Amino acid sequence: MVDTESALIRTTVANAIGLIALNNPPVNALGAVARQGLADAVAALNAASEVQVIAIYGEGKALSAGADIREFGKPLVAPRLSDVLDQIEASLKPVVIVLHGTTLGGGLELALACHARVGLPGAHVGLPEVTLGLLPGAGGTQRLPRLIAFDKAIDMISSGRQVAVEEALDLGLLDTIGEGPPHQAALSAAKAALNGSLMLRRTGDIAIKPDSATIAAAIERLSSKRPLLAAPIKAIQAISHSGEPIVEGIKTERRLFGELMDNPDRQGLIHAFNAERVVRRIPEAAATPREMKTAAVIGGGTMGVGIATALLQAGLRVTLIEMAAERAEMAKVAVAKNFDEAIKRGKSTAEARDKLLLGLAVTTDLRDVATLDLVIEAVFEDIATKTELFSKLDNICKSGAVLGTNTSYLDVNLIAAATSRPQDVIGLHFFSPAHLMRLLEVVVADRTAPEVVATALALSGRMKKVAVRSGVCDGFIGNRILAHYRKMADYMLLDGAAFEQIDHALEDFGFAMGPFAVADLAGLDIGWATRKRKAPTRPAEERYVAIADRICEHGWFGRKSGRGYYLYDDPKIRRPNPDALAIVKAERAAAGVTLRRFTDQDIVARYMTAMISEAARVVAEGVAMRPIDVDAVFLFGYGFPRHLGGPLNYADRIGAAALVERIEAFAKEDRYYWQVPDLLRQLAKTKRGFADLNQR
Ligand code: 3HC
Repeated sequence: MVDTESALIRTTVANAIGLIALNNPPVNALGAVARQGLADAVAALNAASEVQVIAIYGEGKALSAGADIREFGKPLVAPRLSDVLDQIEASLKPVVIVLHGTTLGGGLELALACHARVGLPGAHVGLPEVTLGLLPGAGGTQRLPRLIAFDKAIDMISSGRQVAVEEALDLGLLDTIGEGPPHQAALSAAKAALNGSLMLRRTGDIAIKPDSATIAAAIERLSSKRPLLAAPIKAIQAISHSGEPIVEGIKTERRLFGELMDNPDRQGLIHAFNAERVVRRIPEAAATPREMKTAAVIGGGTMGVGIATALLQAGLRVTLIEMAAERAEMAKVAVAKNFDEAIKRGKSTAEARDKLLLGLAVTTDLRDVATLDLVIEAVFEDIATKTELFSKLDNICKSGAVLGTNTSYLDVNLIAAATSRPQDVIGLHFFSPAHLMRLLEVVVADRTAPEVVATALALSGRMKKVAVRSGVCDGFIGNRILAHYRKMADYMLLDGAAFEQIDHALEDFGFAMGPFAVADLAGLDIGWATRKRKAPTRPAEERYVAIADRICEHGWFGRKSGRGYYLYDDPKIRRPNPDALAIVKAERAAAGVTLRRFTDQDIVARYMTAMISEAARVVAEGVAMRPIDVDAVFLFGYGFPRHLGGPLNYADRIGAAALVERIEAFAKEDRYYWQVPDLLRQLAKTKRGFADLNQR
């Protein structure tokens, strides 16, 4: 008898079947103890004379999410997953496996090394290693192309795409679809293996000839991508060795995997993966959320329409309120259009759209919000308008309703104070387009109740968004930091860098779009309104660049009016607007600046140092709970290059001492703008990084 119970792997034997259960909640990650347990279990079952077949399955929500990400970057603890899987493939007794839930990375590689694979309905599988800056490092690059069409293997591995069980069966990745709970399905699979009804084979024995044309085309396609990331290209290089004997291919895979493990992109991408999860850890997470079934969105502009779309998709019934009936109807059409676009992208169906639209009502009567669980206002960004609206809502809304404001800068404490129930008021700052952008800043005012914060968190989860807790300040986490570093882009423009050069430099660095192209996209009138609002409190020592104001004075607000910094007559090419160039020239002359040259590196250094400086202040003031919260805001709301892991993760690559030195050097040009944040100085002095503050 070889029944064993280790912490993470459970083995039982009955009726000639050796059953191995992975039991490592929450996701059956294959860390060192699990790997050793698996190796021992397979060895023990091979040695047990009463066992004729081995079947593996996972307890909990999935077979396995793969290697334990927390081990990366630390010294490897034996045994290696790839050695354990080679041992499983070589097993003299047949090994079958059941895949359920979302089985990824090393979890799928484990399945590929078994002699037959049974998927359960609802399962999804994939090799997402490239999204973490790695490649499948436990035989995946060698075994997947042996099982499925070569181009499909290249696609799955280089994109990290997950496939549903039906597609996996069609591809040949699975042998069959089973039924019942995983342990039952594993017993059935083992019986099928014994009676010959499940085909058994060693994947490594299958001979294939990699198609060099497909490899070359994939490498060319990936090489033209920006930012240029090493992982997908190295993954394809590894796949190109899959025509060799598997031991040789695996040697190459291991070498390339090791190279990627040492590449800083891997750290940045895993930091980004963690950021999405760590931000959920906030003090209010323990409170019980209020039930949210119905919501009102006040304001049917782009933002209101996007928020209504997101809420409908999350399963709420939504009432959209506009001032005039015609505008309310237009908003309804715009929501339907958002759903149509989702259908075009293959993300939804006409049936789903029609069902969701049944949940949408439009009205012009504010009293219709009286019975609703949640109200989100997305009206004009003006404190008087918002406080007036909230005082009306206070009179209308039912007790216990959550009152959310989508303000992007204004003081949520003031808005809350306009009601008799500040505990129910919260900032819910969506990013445009609100149904697509993943970030939601949850702005917690002084008197917001913990369960209202927990409700926002739960709602964000339903909308599949990343909620980041922010304190109250002008612009919260994201727009406050943006307002600071955006000035730096303007200063560089005034001092001699062309706006096209600034955009290109930052796009080459990894941003999806440079700051001037973004301003044109968002609408130059938005920044103009903010600058006018802040004009009375602008410190006298602060440099002011009026180029954008001059452009706006002509009614050129960017893309929506056909011209801004750039011209938009041909949507495919971005051409500088000659009138904007003339304005730049005139403003430089008016300011009497001595023009200077900026290299692309100078541009990136100044821009990023400005961003990091303000981010450090936001952390020091407690507006953001941790540096990683700032990183999440920029990764999920501002197109920050994911492989750099966010501004404060990137800051640690430069190092606090080097940043202090940089700021002191820049301060020789502008003492007011360039001030060393206390937190940065402290980190430099104590030789720590922002990462150390994430441990709090
Ligand atoms: N290792 C360690 N911890 C993991 C993990 C992993 N592979 N996958 C998830 N976790 C942790 C999460 O960090 C989270 O921790 P927390 O509760 O402390 O925040 C917890 O498990 C639950 O995860 P989620 O909140 O993400 O749960 P979901 O149900 O929403 O999603 C999932 C589950 C789809 C498996 C998702 O977690 C995921 O995509 N995980 C990453 C999978 C992956 O990338 N695997 C490849 C790893 S690399 C590899 O295998 C290398 C190999 O080729 C050698």
